[in-house]
Amino acid sequence: MEIIIQPTLEAATAIAARLVAALLREKPRAVLGLATGSTPLLLYRELVQMKLNWRRATTFNLDEYVSLAPDHPASYHSFMRENLFRHVNLRAKNIHIPDGRARDIPALCERYEKEIHKAGGIDLQLLGIGSDGHIGFNEPSSSLASRTRMKTLTERTLRDNARFFGGAARSPHHVITMGIGTIMEARHCLLLAFGSKKARAIAGAVEGPVTAMNPASVLQLHPRATLFLDEAAAARLKMKRYYRWVFENKPAWQKF
Ligand code: F6R
Repeated sequence: MEIIIQPTLEAATAIAARLVAALLREKPRAVLGLATGSTPLLLYRELVQMKLNWRRATTFNLDEYVSLAPDHPASYHSFMRENLFRHVNLRAKNIHIPDGRARDIPALCERYEKEIHKAGGIDLQLLGIGSDGHIGFNEPSSSLASRTRMKTLTERTLRDNARFFGGAARSPHHVITMGIGTIMEARHCLLLAFGSKKARAIAGAVEGPVTAMNPASVLQLHPRATLFLDEAAAARLKMKRYYRWVFENKPAWQKF
């Protein structure tokens, strides 16, 4: 795992954006795994401002709420359209987000896995982290080998996301999410975490045991996982000083 701690979310996001931009320039047909939520908002804004060429790129989103229509304002379809897709030249046929209204959810999940495979696998997977350690919507106790499927959100995640629905009671309880096994097949996982609410989950994911009780801890087993943190999210890391030293003393060829 590479842990990059920056003073602010703006500074951390700027480096992450350079990394995504470099991939799109080097590999115009890149396959990107995308996340939603508050964490990647600034990243998407920066990527839009960079005026990159997305025409040959393909995207797969991590998740979507079951039962929400794509034009529901809180759906992840709407989120992606508003924050990225309508601002860049991605082709509609190359955009993939699970359909929350699918009648046959297991069949949709199987198709989603096949489409990722057919696209050549994910080059770069963007991830946020839940305050309980979830990645995608793989809540604690999710199988570390899981594939795309339906999951039930915990009360904590419902509370965390209540702001998008005008209260936890109105939030859908079920979601379709890429599995942890699916995420782990991405060639590079890039996780962003900002703010003190994420500090405990980050400490567990980075320095705790690999456990289904903190799904992000599985990234310890990933050959290429890069974590971008602000000071508040890094606050509980015991080896903070070492991670900083590593980043500041990277050999030139390893710099972003
Ligand atoms: C969203 C997703 C989730 C979020 C996580 C953090 O596509 O997969 O894992 O990344 O819930 O959400 P925010 O960024 O709103 O704190």
